Amino acid sequence: ASTLGAAAAEKGRYFGTAVAANRLSEPDYVATLNREFNSVTPENEMKWDALEPSRNSFNYANADRIVSHARSQNMMVRGHTLVWHSQLPSWVGGLDANNLRSAMNNHINQVMGHYRGQIHSWDVVNEAFQDGSSGARRSSPFQDRLGNGFIEEAFRTARAADPNAKLCYNDYNTDGINAKSNAVYNMVRDFKQRGVPIDCVGFQSHFNSQSPVPSDYQQNLQRFADLGVDVQITELDIEGSGTAQADNYRRVVNACLAVSRCTGITVWGVTDKYSWRASGTPLLFDGNYNKKPAYDAVLAALGGT
Ligand code: G3I
Repeated sequence: ASTLGAAAAEKGRYFGTAVAANRLSEPDYVATLNREFNSVTPENEMKWDALEPSRNSFNYANADRIVSHARSQNMMVRGHTLVWHSQLPSWVGGLDANNLRSAMNNHINQVMGHYRGQIHSWDVVNEAFQDGSSGARRSSPFQDRLGNGFIEEAFRTARAADPNAKLCYNDYNTDGINAKSNAVYNMVRDFKQRGVPIDCVGFQSHFNSQSPVPSDYQQNLQRFADLGVDVQITELDIEGSGTAQADNYRRVVNACLAVSRCTGITVWGVTDKYSWRASGTPLLFDGNYNKKPAYDAVLAALGGT
């Protein structure tokens, strides 16, 4: 295989990228997307502020553009994200507990209903835990007004809304074994023990010199898989360049391939020029859509040439 998607498919995995709707009119962007990737994640278009800017008034136009493009290319779609403290419209923060609960469940029902049958995996809840050593939940309207049970409630609502979608918990700084990933691990174990519906855990995998690829990355993916969930690498990008960057990407791909329940990898953008990291070159294609050494390393790790 000579592309990321085709090589990953031969290993029983997908290889995806974050996509921005307003780039779908750029020919080089679309050509690279269509050639190399077989899964997409809308980078911002399925977030709460984009989809439901005022209560119970939904705007699907940009997200629909991405989904219909993906369908026309036989690409999978990862839904990102239903319940998150960030990119949350201000009206949500003003609700009391009862209204917030019904707004959260309505948001899940409406959005998952709109896309029912078209989304492979949903990030149902994103980034609900604090960084650092506490293992505590992060403050958010959901956490502060609904308490710890909001995550479980979101997953139960999501299961009913689209029974065929894989339901994921997604977070960052959980890529290695640490206090934060331990807290997520304990939650997932509890969910599995009590029959709360959860199918997968997403590891964002935003790496740089302060936050390098952890030495126990594969071990961490494996311990989650051993709980009976799939694991997915959901937002991969790695700062750097040249051989060092390529080596880090290779390690990530090899870790996923070594874990049978690691079902796919998504990089957080097609080209360095549109990366969320304003200064930096964390992706596989440079600003002119040339393949970087990191691309070659990923393709080779996937068994492609
Ligand atoms: O759309 C508006 C535009 O109308 C406005 O003129 C412009 C001025 O700032 O802002 C535009 O919105 C920006 C949006 O991206 C779309 O480009 C926001 O300011 C900007 O904050 C937003 O950044 C996104 C970020 O999430 C916000 O949290 C990044 O593109 C996106 O890559 C990033 O993705 C997150 C994942 O969802 C969750 N995990 C971490 C990851 C990286 O931060």
